[in-house]
Amino acid sequence: MKVLVTGGAGYIGSHVVRELLDTGHEVVIFDNMSTGVEMNIDQRAKFVFGDILNPVEIDAVLKESVVAVFHLAAFKAAGESMLVPEQYAHNNLTGTINLLNSMLANQVDKFIFSSSAAVYGNPKYLPIDEAHPLMPENFYGFTKLEIEQILTWYAKLKGLRFAALRYFNAAGYDVQGRVRGKERNPANLLPVVMEVAAGERPGLEVFGDDYDTPDGTGIRDYIHVNDLADAHVKALNYLTTNSDNLLLNLASGIGYSVLEVIEEARKITGRPIPYEIVARRTGDPSDLYAKSNQAESKLGWKPRYSDLTTLLSSMWEIYK
Ligand code: WQD
Repeated sequence: MKVLVTGGAGYIGSHVVRELLDTGHEVVIFDNMSTGVEMNIDQRAKFVFGDILNPVEIDAVLKESVVAVFHLAAFKAAGESMLVPEQYAHNNLTGTINLLNSMLANQVDKFIFSSSAAVYGNPKYLPIDEAHPLMPENFYGFTKLEIEQILTWYAKLKGLRFAALRYFNAAGYDVQGRVRGKERNPANLLPVVMEVAAGERPGLEVFGDDYDTPDGTGIRDYIHVNDLADAHVKALNYLTTNSDNLLLNLASGIGYSVLEVIEEARKITGRPIPYEIVARRTGDPSDLYAKSNQAESKLGWKPRYSDLTTLLSSMWEIYK
């Protein structure tokens, strides 16, 4: 099938593009290169430089007879979204609505949306399943939830078909080593640990060791980007062969603490990885992990690369 991937030069997008191409799809990438990395653009795909904030550019690319849109062009820093909500509203809300409206106008009816665990907010129970209350704690999570709700309305009113995929903590790099461009200015734990191991940063700050967890540091559910990519292709196949829409978690089901991550990274890299304990980061829940039963039962999806060793060693291949 011929598909469009917005944000196809980005960290997760470039992995999704490879998986689509490897499974026989024809891919058009649409990216404004604000955070995309040129060397991660797969040569087998057609690249279109453009912005989801420009309806004329979106309209033009949707006329390329694509049958589905994978939407991964968004701002994703939760902390930043609390400081500049207007930028997140513009890009994540206005941009996505432009894209959806243009899809309706051009009779493109399948949409695979990059949603987030951030739609849940602080966990009321663990592991988080899809029935968990939706109470985002940051503006970023709010933008993802708003789009999920628009998708549900557009499905009802306009027959849009959609899969909203709620990623937990995306991490890792292509296990075949084909995506080699690193994310710029990462703020997430695993790339920061890698930068410290590689000597690009002097050390790491651990945000709090007084949480109610076995070693006192925050626990998260890290999911490998190759596993995420696999779920995207399976979601497209699902929309093609079924009539219902999907709203589901993509998680490994296993939580690792910050100190467990550092310890394993020391073993894999052979580097000391110095750290200091600092105050908690505002808005951080202590413990977050999830069930992906729906992805398993509906998509036949199971994570294959989301153990801590594979996550970190696939990253070290790039960072070393
Ligand atoms: C993980 C753990 C930190 C950095 C964020 C977004 C979320 C989602 C994924 C997109 C926490 C600790 C981190 C550091 C640390 N994004 N940490 N020192 O906050 O779980 O999730 O990314 O959908 O919306 O909020 O990920 O990688 O920042 O933190 O101690 O330098 O590592 O406190 O316990 P987070 P993270």
